Amino acid sequence: MLEPTEPAVVTWAPGRVNLIGEHTDYSGGLVLPIAIQFGITLEVDSAAETITLGSDGYGEPQTVPADGGGAAASGWMRYVQAVVGELAAVGRPPVGLVGTISSDLPAGSGLSSSAAVEVAVALALCAVADFELEPLELAVLCQRAELRAVGVPCGILDQAACLLGRERQAILLDCDSLEHRLIHVPTDAALLIVDSGVPRSLEHTAYGERRAQLEHAMQLLGATRSTDLDLSSLAGLDDVSARRLRHVVTENARVERFAAALEGGDLAAAGRLLGESHASLRDDYEVSIPELDLLVELAEAAGARGARLLGGGFGGSVLVLTDAGRAEDVAGAVGVEYRRRTGTGGEALLVRASPGAGRR
Ligand code: GLA
Repeated sequence: MLEPTEPAVVTWAPGRVNLIGEHTDYSGGLVLPIAIQFGITLEVDSAAETITLGSDGYGEPQTVPADGGGAAASGWMRYVQAVVGELAAVGRPPVGLVGTISSDLPAGSGLSSSAAVEVAVALALCAVADFELEPLELAVLCQRAELRAVGVPCGILDQAACLLGRERQAILLDCDSLEHRLIHVPTDAALLIVDSGVPRSLEHTAYGERRAQLEHAMQLLGATRSTDLDLSSLAGLDDVSARRLRHVVTENARVERFAAALEGGDLAAAGRLLGESHASLRDDYEVSIPELDLLVELAEAAGARGARLLGGGFGGSVLVLTDAGRAEDVAGAVGVEYRRRTGTGGEALLVRASPGAGRR
């Protein structure tokens, strides 16, 4: 237990970029994320009876009871309250603290700031209570917190990437068994995130509807994990079920081919797979919007290896793969042309595979 006089606990949790394997996690499919160098820091100043967190730039400090109960919190504090509740449910003794959250992760860009908040808070509360959980147990707990906080039935992608990240490595994760292995990201590859300027919030999108459609399609086939299916399984399904499943089945295959392309240093093949992933998300899964399609087109025209929408879709950012020496030129050309056409967004962020969450 942290005494008021003890040195402060500081935890840090990164955002994530999923290289490929989008909308596959909640059917037990394959994903290939990296943790990035931007994230959320939580500085604990002292122990207390309740949990009070301030933040730089997100309003007044808010307080929730040490067991996560009480009236429903608002804004980002909902994630904190939900994590506290989930930790209480697995037996972590209630502890209070006073602290401050700060972030260099752009919110609403599809870089998973909510998962980073959940993980930073969970790590701090565990540290203060001398309570330990394995990284993947913590990831699953934070995934449940997301559902508890905002009712979004997300998969394990964001929280797992945040906790398992490694310098220069992507994480090839089977979302059913949670088995994973590291894939080296070639040093001549540059990864850009380009913002559409259309804020994305999973609460207000058709995320839950897509998930329900996919689960319905899986039930029709009696399948529990999408990696057991292939394209021949789709015969005879209704149009929507067939298209949702076709995305997931082909996307699982693309994850494996993309991992092999990275391991072989074949950026041309990796780039083509990104383009195919975007087309499948746009046409079969129907989670794109014209602004994201435009960014992908502009990136390809500017000489990128490939690009696709990132995360849940319906706004946020695209991921662009370029040769390291070309990143600045591509970012500049895409940003200028995108702003000229839409009057917004187009900011690019260079990201790199970075270590996962932990104490600082
Ligand atoms: C969001 C969810 C993830 C995942 C992606 C789509 O980021 O939080 O669990 O489903 O969308 O791949």
